Amino acid sequence: MGVELDLAGHRALVTGAGQSVGEAIARLLAAAGAEVAVNDVVADRAAAVADDIVRSGGRAVAAPFDVTDYRAVLQTVEGLGGLDILVNNAGNAGTEGFGRSVPLARSEPADWEMFLKVNLYGVMYCVRAALPAMIDKGWGRVITIVSDGGRVGGTGKAAYGAAKAGAAGFCREVAHEVGRHGITVNCISLGTMKTPTTAAFWENLDENPTASEMMKRYIIRRPGEPDDVAGLALFLASPRASWITGQTYPVNGGFSFAL
Ligand SMILES: NC(=O)c1ccc[n+]([C@@H]2O[C@H](COP(=O)([O-])OP(=O)(O)OC[C@H]3O[C@@H](n4cnc5c(N)ncnc54)[C@H](O)[C@@H]3O)[C@@H](O)[C@H]2O)c1
Repeated sequence: MGVELDLAGHRALVTGAGQSVGEAIARLLAAAGAEVAVNDVVADRAAAVADDIVRSGGRAVAAPFDVTDYRAVLQTVEGLGGLDILVNNAGNAGTEGFGRSVPLARSEPADWEMFLKVNLYGVMYCVRAALPAMIDKGWGRVITIVSDGGRVGGTGKAAYGAAKAGAAGFCREVAHEVGRHGITVNCISLGTMKTPTTAAFWENLDENPTASEMMKRYIIRRPGEPDDVAGLALFLASPRASWITGQTYPVNGGFSFAL
């Protein structure tokens, strides 16, 4: 007798799934039987991941669009015939590079826009597009990847923290609104991961006091990997998580706590 987290018959959209965390989530949802629309603003990345899932025997399609383009979001979700599962993963910690601060006293509203557009508006657009079909069906799962930058701060990017905290607050409000329709809405808050964007930060800890200090705060003494996140996303997407909503779960190696 086994315990299954079976998503057969469910259609999922994972945004920003062309690499890293989103890719790991898309692959695991597909392995659990979901039909996965693999989104990325970089079309080649979305296609490569979707093709590979299909080659491995899963069900996937590439769904390239920019989550900040509301019309494209609506058109894609409608074209897919609605969603059962939405994973808002696409995020942007800035073009100036990971680990580099953007001091508020030296930044301008235009600098804040890109953080808010992708990390907050992108989430709002995708949730808005997904809800009508979920409400019609009386079942749905919304999972949003946020950041400890929005819970405890410390990224050196106030607008990024504000956008991620805003996304968590937005999801909590939506959870209240749609719970009666069988739809759950939860967030996963990440500590700093080891991904293509952040890999350089974790190299040469001896020469990088910021990274070595941060490493000491991880109870599990390593940065997270995309697969560390995918398991919780699968569980929250599954029928087993039907009485869990409005929550934000840290996945951060013990960097910070939620009680
Ligand atoms: N990497 C970390 O340390 C870390 C820490 C905390 C939270 N997060 C959050 O986790 C999520 C995933 O991060 P990651 O490290 O895997 O990112 P990543 O940069 O490795 O991958 C993100 C993917 O999203 C795509 N993307 C970016 N903007 C998009 C848009 N407007 N529309 C569609 N796709 C878009 C990118 O092309 C890329 O393929 C993000 O929301 C990020 O903010 C990451």
